[in-house]
Amino acid sequence: MTVASTIVNDVRTQADTLVDVRGASKTFVRKGARTNALDGVDLSVRRGEFVSLLGPSGCGKSTLLRLVGGLLEFDAGIVLVDGQPPAASRRQKQFALVPQSPALLPWLTVRQNVGFLTKLNRGAEGHRTPDEKEVQALLAAVGLDQFGGAFPHELSGGMQQRVSLVRAFALGAPILLMDEPFAALDEITRAQMRYLLLELWERTGGTVLFVTHSIPEAIIVSDRVVVMAARPGRISAIEDIHLDRPRRDDMEDSAQFHGHVSRLRTLLRDSHDAEVQR
Ligand SMILES: Nc1ncnc2c1ncn2[C@@H]1O[C@H](COP(=O)(O)OP(=O)(O)OP(=O)(O)O)[C@@H](O)[C@H]1O
Ligand SMILES: [Mg+2]
Repeated sequence: MTVASTIVNDVRTQADTLVDVRGASKTFVRKGARTNALDGVDLSVRRGEFVSLLGPSGCGKSTLLRLVGGLLEFDAGIVLVDGQPPAASRRQKQFALVPQSPALLPWLTVRQNVGFLTKLNRGAEGHRTPDEKEVQALLAAVGLDQFGGAFPHELSGGMQQRVSLVRAFALGAPILLMDEPFAALDEITRAQMRYLLLELWERTGGTVLFVTHSIPEAIIVSDRVVVMAARPGRISAIEDIHLDRPRRDDMEDSAQFHGHVSRLRTLLRDSHDAEVQR
């Protein structure tokens, strides 16, 4: 490779990078005790990429998500989102956050819950605000087109989480931060939610940072799976997922899928062992 083409490639990679975390560290101090939640984390996420964070409890997954989302200050390092500090991106409403519990407003219907934040964000830079037809199509994609007029208490937990996903995608924010959005669901519902999530993502686009404890879930949704280790929280490995898109459930029977499962299991076990020996 020539020097010129190296420079061109570098420039192209930088232009493609949406989230750039370099040497990020965060220590929490509580009642005199210090927790090294993140220590020298490097991660860059390309525009349009779907990246999962996988790792034992306490390894800093939520902390990393909050740093990227401008919800938390870091102690050292650089965090850039589209070339600017995360707090600036947050002010410009560049993020949609999907928490573990759906957090719907109980006095609003499903359609109003989806539309509420969308209206607040209208006009924000980079937003592609969907109209009512598009919202209806998103609800239909998750099987809730008949429930637009229902209130949250009339829905099951799984249905509420589907509304929460639609709300996040309907915002049209370029970056979606999802912190174990399916943790409270039963296994079968959870397995279905992965594909509904992908359907929404393929429809609207966006860059996703997704936290999960499930290896199969991480593999089926992601372009890359970032494995983290605890004490101090750090990235211990990154696995590129070699499965075609769109993902289909029969891929879960493929040799590639099983290869990823077995490698990620080993990497996670190594992360645990490293922690135990500290
Ligand atoms: N606000 C805080 N104050 C003090 N310590 C904190 C705070 N937030 C996180 N921590 C500590 O930082 C470490 C990383 O926490 P974090 O929530 O990022 O872990 P996690 O990987 O998301 O874990 P889990 O899988 O259980 O959600 C933990 O030891 C946690 O106790
Ligand atoms: Mg967490």
